[in-house]
Amino acid sequence: MDRRRFIATFGTGAVAAFLGLNSRPLWAQTTGHELPVDCSPPPPPGAAKHITFDTSINVAPRKSIWDLDATEVTRLQNAYQALRNLQTTNPSDPRGWMQQANVHCYNCSGGYDPSSYEIHGGWWFMPWHRCYLYVHERILANLIGDPSFRLAYWDWDTYPTHATFPPTFTQGSLYDQYRGTQPGDIIPPGVSGPANMSIVMGTQGTAAYMGGVSDPPHGVFPAGAMESNPHGPVHIWTGDSGTGALQAGCFYPYPNQTDPVKDHSQDVGCLDMGVLATAAQDPVFFAHHSNIDRLWDVWVNTPGSQGNYTDSSWLTQQFNFYDENGDWVYLTVADVLAANEQDNLRYAYQPPQTVTPPKMAALPPVPKGVKLKPAKPLTVAAQAATKVGTKPKAVSVALPAVHRSNLKMLAAGAPRLLELHIDGLKLPPNESAILKVYVGNPKANRASAIDASFVGTFSVVASGSPHRHAVVRNAVFELRPETAALLAKQTKLTVTLVPTRINGSEPKVSNLTYDRIYLSQRQ
Ligand code: C2O
Repeated sequence: MDRRRFIATFGTGAVAAFLGLNSRPLWAQTTGHELPVDCSPPPPPGAAKHITFDTSINVAPRKSIWDLDATEVTRLQNAYQALRNLQTTNPSDPRGWMQQANVHCYNCSGGYDPSSYEIHGGWWFMPWHRCYLYVHERILANLIGDPSFRLAYWDWDTYPTHATFPPTFTQGSLYDQYRGTQPGDIIPPGVSGPANMSIVMGTQGTAAYMGGVSDPPHGVFPAGAMESNPHGPVHIWTGDSGTGALQAGCFYPYPNQTDPVKDHSQDVGCLDMGVLATAAQDPVFFAHHSNIDRLWDVWVNTPGSQGNYTDSSWLTQQFNFYDENGDWVYLTVADVLAANEQDNLRYAYQPPQTVTPPKMAALPPVPKGVKLKPAKPLTVAAQAATKVGTKPKAVSVALPAVHRSNLKMLAAGAPRLLELHIDGLKLPPNESAILKVYVGNPKANRASAIDASFVGTFSVVASGSPHRHAVVRNAVFELRPETAALLAKQTKLTVTLVPTRINGSEPKVSNLTYDRIYLSQRQ
């Protein structure tokens, strides 16, 4: 169904009802490879009912893809084969492969104009993907008649042994021809290696780790550290690692597809995983997200992490899906939090067995009675729509005494409440971006190490060139004590933005802009 007709027939209210959010997107073709244009969902079949969790099922482990035995690999193959078969035997079944994959597109940025519905870039990111994985897992289990079936996770943070593309996903029903990784490619260390992972997993603040409160009507989409890197760059890398024929800068067109865009010369996103609209058309998507999901639990249980949001608007948010019986159901965020995960969802993450992953440092307890001085946000740059460009660029501002004294307190162990923000990052929907961010290191460049001056990497996975919205994000980086110690010695706060492609080379194009860079204090 064409999007305009869809709106005329059902109205945006029906669309919103489909997605379980206040406004939202789409449906598309049902066979073959698809280049979803508007990602508009089909009309909802009525009001969603609260899902019934089948608590008679035993709790079973979700294991690393690298730890599956031959029987478990065959079972995974059979499950995805059954899902692909369902699409062929009954194209209108909402549980079939391509319809499942498109659920992701319905929920990603700019899929549906003029809606701004988006489960990326903010606090829906973790719980929405957990719900999606769960429903996907129950559908697969149901199709092979094996309630003990569980998804596998790709632990790219078990570095570097598990950070190559898992060979299991190059076979049979798990294979996807729209990938740009070459056998033996290893995810770059700056993405999932121990130095970056310990920074990400050592983030104390909830918004800084898992994304801030998104406010679509005002274009506010604050991505957290986990979503920005490793999540985004693993997508981009799988779409095109940059070592093969595609050379980091590819995109559609899809073969055998009516291509509504035609000119892709400016596209800078890659194949299935490298584009949000198509990412879930690659079975490895679900293993990638299972790992993000596993690490969310690890973080929640890390002493010193601020843990999940407790806001009722977050806890009671509903997300709609078709379940394994084809029933139209909703899950709430509270249903799926770590505390309820085993009771309701019936899986537990089994840590990687064959190799010991790098150990994450525990966060120090917050010292009592240590308080930073109140200080206004320190603006480093504030020119709307400033171009990031393709080369490293530094901006700086004098560092006032109050900020320097707060940095000293942070260096000495005060709560990690100082954050560097970049607001209003904006780029066209056909473009991905990776931006390394350094402070107190004016000469930082693509070869710079992950040291005290590195605060994090911001990324955006292209949403899909036919989407008609720009993608907007805010980035937030929590300052670590060693970073504060470095800054406290300087008279200026310098922020260096270092654009890079996934393979470490200079981007060929960048239309990324930002509005403001500032240092502020979390309350
Ligand atoms: Cu919904 Cu990995 O993106």
